[in-house]
Amino acid sequence: MADGSPDETTPEREWVDPPESFVANANVTAADRDAFREAGWPECWRRPADLLDWDRGFDAVLDDSEEGPTRWFPGGRLNAAHNCVDRHVAAGRGDETAVAWEGKLGESRTYTYGELADEVNAFAAALRELGVEAGDVVTLYLPMIPELPVAMLACARIGAPHSVVFAGFSADALATRLSGADSQFLVTCDGYYRRGAALDLKRRADNACVSVDHAVEQVVVNRLDDERAAGDHHVYADLVADHEGATVEPVAREADDLLFLIYTSGTTGEPTLVRHTTGGYLTHVAWTGHAVLDLGPDDTHWCSADVGWITGHSYAVYGPLALGATTVLYEGTPDHPETDRLWEIIERNGVDVFYTAPTSIRAFMKWGEEHPERHDLSSLRLLGTVGEPIDATAWHWYRDHVGDGECPVVDTWWQTETGGIVLSTLPGVDRMRPGAVGKSLPGIETAVVDETGRRVAAGEAGQLVVTRPWPGMARSLCEGSGWGARRTRTVEGEWQYATGDNAVRDEDGYLHLLGRADDVLKVSDRRLSTAEIERAIVGVDGVAEAAVVVGADDDAAHRSEIHAFVSPESNVAGDDALRESVGAAVEEAIGPIAVPDAVTFAPSLPKTRSGKVVRRYLAAIANGEDLGDTSALRNPEVVGELESLLDR
Ligand code: WTA
Repeated sequence: MADGSPDETTPEREWVDPPESFVANANVTAADRDAFREAGWPECWRRPADLLDWDRGFDAVLDDSEEGPTRWFPGGRLNAAHNCVDRHVAAGRGDETAVAWEGKLGESRTYTYGELADEVNAFAAALRELGVEAGDVVTLYLPMIPELPVAMLACARIGAPHSVVFAGFSADALATRLSGADSQFLVTCDGYYRRGAALDLKRRADNACVSVDHAVEQVVVNRLDDERAAGDHHVYADLVADHEGATVEPVAREADDLLFLIYTSGTTGEPTLVRHTTGGYLTHVAWTGHAVLDLGPDDTHWCSADVGWITGHSYAVYGPLALGATTVLYEGTPDHPETDRLWEIIERNGVDVFYTAPTSIRAFMKWGEEHPERHDLSSLRLLGTVGEPIDATAWHWYRDHVGDGECPVVDTWWQTETGGIVLSTLPGVDRMRPGAVGKSLPGIETAVVDETGRRVAAGEAGQLVVTRPWPGMARSLCEGSGWGARRTRTVEGEWQYATGDNAVRDEDGYLHLLGRADDVLKVSDRRLSTAEIERAIVGVDGVAEAAVVVGADDDAAHRSEIHAFVSPESNVAGDDALRESVGAAVEEAIGPIAVPDAVTFAPSLPKTRSGKVVRRYLAAIANGEDLGDTSALRNPEVVGELESLLDR
């Protein structure tokens, strides 16, 4: 099982083996892995593509000719809704549960594959009647309710790419995304519950629509109550009832036709648009769901990420449904009404694969092991994490107290741009190393490089790059000639996709992630951009400059703290009123998730001689860490001032 690894177990070189019982039943065995390697790149991706039903077989695995964009599975045609729904019904599994939904107020609802097929067909027919055609972008601004995956699949069925906007985003953020995607259809809901309070989503949607240049047709799901709110919109339940029993032939899409768009935070002040294809993306998430999360038709999988982010797209919706598993969707927060809510859901649903973020695991640790231990979690057989680095302590806690000391834990590294998992361990093949993510999956090649793109030695930090195309790659990485060369750095003739993450490869070849190398923030597992938040703050009257950094976990918010350093204009006081305006501006531009937890007013910000703000020092100040030598700053005195300001 081991990969030629040493026997010694020092804390840094610790190995944990998956239990024999898991290895014996794993979807992917060492022999499968070897066969994958032997097939060579890109041919090795043929077998993963066989996990899907193709309406027309592809002519080649990859078209990587110098001219034109990189295309995975050229010539192939398929439909994602057929793959995620119809084929399971056709296989006689129509009565098995596809989606198990746990509502905020303790209610639950399940959809069998048959019921999912009916509602997807009805809503697809309704969307068509509203005028949605193949290629039209439909924006879905919905919380974690089952209508969200239904709407995604209904769009996929008729070949209309969806653009899901996280329900916690503001009206302004929604407006930017509606305009950017030129989207003329919006599915939203009247409101939703957050920590017991009802939030008005419809008003935010209306505010967004008035600031978009084109007309937007709205469909509204009634989540809060069944009273039909007046207004110029369609009601989801009425549309579905009107089209009950409809069948809509799934539209066979070219492999590289768009399945969806998703906006994410990049390094600029504007959200970045990422587009994913039908064939490459679906192959990637189905394969990694099968190989890394070990999912199949008998599994009940719970990926706790919100479907508004890529993790929810890939491993709460498309991956598990393509594989015919049951996916659990939870509308609420982990500690409401009680801190053992999650364990209760795992127990009640018999969840056997649980996939969550380190930030949640750190919160579970703080709440205490008595909560998971009070529940029967014996259905669990595999645990996963994603979104941020997980340290060895949290890793062990997760395995010991949630996984009963037995379950393999897969740490999985990937990004919105990669579509699906890139680095991990294969749970039935590889030894695990707590604190290290693992290696590139078979069929994917990565390296750790210095600024010039040259590989660094084991033990040295550098940027993680991917050195060959992979099926889940965002379409923007494929465009241009020769593997999207325009968008990537070519070093000594080598194609490299720069991930923006720093990493170290240890002597055993396992990668340890060190966090972002750029100004993308991971506030817990959510992805935000310093530039977007700073732009909102600098827009406040009286603010001259601002810089935001991420601090340690904030216990109350169960996530890392966002700390803003704000320098007011010379005649403006840094007082509570200004602090409030700063918070309000960020909430309006992005949403409550990006509002700084702490705002420190400072006469100026630490800068290099060329005038660039050094956020590294601000992060150290915010976290009470030692700054080291600051003499290279243009204004080193400001550091002392800031430290004394924070010495509260
Ligand atoms: C971070 C989420 C360490 C990383 C799937 C990456 C991780 C960013 C891990 C992408 C992990 C994700 N260990 N860091 N296992 N997984 N990241 O686009 O910084 O929301 O670049 O995709 O999350 O965030 P995104």
